[in-house]
Amino acid sequence: MAANNQTQRYAHIIGWGKYAPPNTLTNDELAKRVDTSDAWIRERTGIVERRIATKETTATLALYAAQDALEVADIDPKEIDLVIVATSTPEYVFPATASIVQDQLGAENAGAFDLSAACSGFVYALSVGAGMIRSGQHNTVLVIGAETFSRIVNWKDRATCVLFGDGAGALLLRGSPHYGGVLSTVLGSDGSGSELLIVPAGGSKNPASLETVMNNMHTVKMNGREVYRFATRVMVDATKQALQKANVPLEELDMLIPHQANARIIDYAAKSLHLPPEKVFQNVEHYGNTSAASIPIALVEAIEAKRVHPGDHLVMVGFGGGLSWGSCAVQWTIPTVTRPMTPQRAAQSRLRYRWSNFKSFGHRVLRRVDSGVSKVLDRLEGENNGNGA
Ligand code: ACO
Repeated sequence: MAANNQTQRYAHIIGWGKYAPPNTLTNDELAKRVDTSDAWIRERTGIVERRIATKETTATLALYAAQDALEVADIDPKEIDLVIVATSTPEYVFPATASIVQDQLGAENAGAFDLSAACSGFVYALSVGAGMIRSGQHNTVLVIGAETFSRIVNWKDRATCVLFGDGAGALLLRGSPHYGGVLSTVLGSDGSGSELLIVPAGGSKNPASLETVMNNMHTVKMNGREVYRFATRVMVDATKQALQKANVPLEELDMLIPHQANARIIDYAAKSLHLPPEKVFQNVEHYGNTSAASIPIALVEAIEAKRVHPGDHLVMVGFGGGLSWGSCAVQWTIPTVTRPMTPQRAAQSRLRYRWSNFKSFGHRVLRRVDSGVSKVLDRLEGENNGNGA
């Protein structure tokens, strides 16, 4: 389809990356901790194993995925205007995980913020990033979904701990007058279901206390059946809506990249939309539900499996706590064959990130020196004023 308005800007995906911690936890290993079995988990969820962060944190997972996305796009981090990290498991309440990633990447010219919309977070972040580009406010936006759910699940609750895993995925968006990239986004929320999927403590309603810790209120609580019913409905509706908004008929959908929470939910959506398996990407078996990271990880794996080609129409669709949901129709525009990573390129990027870290360290030192010198000057000024009085 040709652009009908030459002045319009489109947000194209020009880079992609993912990172999952190498530490794997299989169903059989989980069955040694809680009263469950490999058979139950496979049958009810399709999950076989998940990745669990050990030394990694949400920021480091996000950083590694982002570095890969920058390698693919082959751009300098200084070209990034905005970093958005979608996460429900941020490094801290504040500062934003995105600011930490921005600093570590050496994205010196970027603004940065976190976005919280549970498992729908990545689609929300993509929508915001694409909107910033479409409005002309920014040209290059890094959108990351990163989670360490293993740090907020109750490892004694078999109904939830078997479902989640850790990881991160990142997409780099860039503005262009040429038709393609993010064509439409649909965002939805039904807060009447907020208690169906919740971490009850740690916020302003139930600040951390001995009681909240003793009662396990800092971990995920979920009404699985209700979330399941909600998910099956919105996945189908939101996919259709994104396509309709983008003027792409369902028959022209080449690949659905759904939130990877449960194989049964994905299968239900595929069946309802009459999509054959080759048009639906699924990797929940290897990662479990990585919340805001699941869609970008799935997209990157679809690209790596050569299941995404220039000209293809994709829909990414997610749902989660809020209750919230979101979908996004994309026309893929760039070749998915990436430049090989030569030792020279690898060394160059290692050097670049070491230099960013060194500069960041230098800024911290200078800030302390500046603060120390200011204190001394203030004291001297106070003494001088005292003497003069
Ligand atoms: N192992 C063995 N038995 C289990 C386990 C387990 N891990 N978990 C629950 N059971 C038992 C229950 O106790 C129950 O036993 P009972 O019948 O004796 O009471 C039985 O299995 C059936 O439990 P249900 O909850 O009805 O099982 P269901 O078929 O609904 O599957 C599941 C549960 C997998 C959680 C499903 O409801 C689901 O996938 N829901 C959606 C979850 C989801 O997608 N969450 C998204 C989160 S996104 C975000 O924003 C974080």
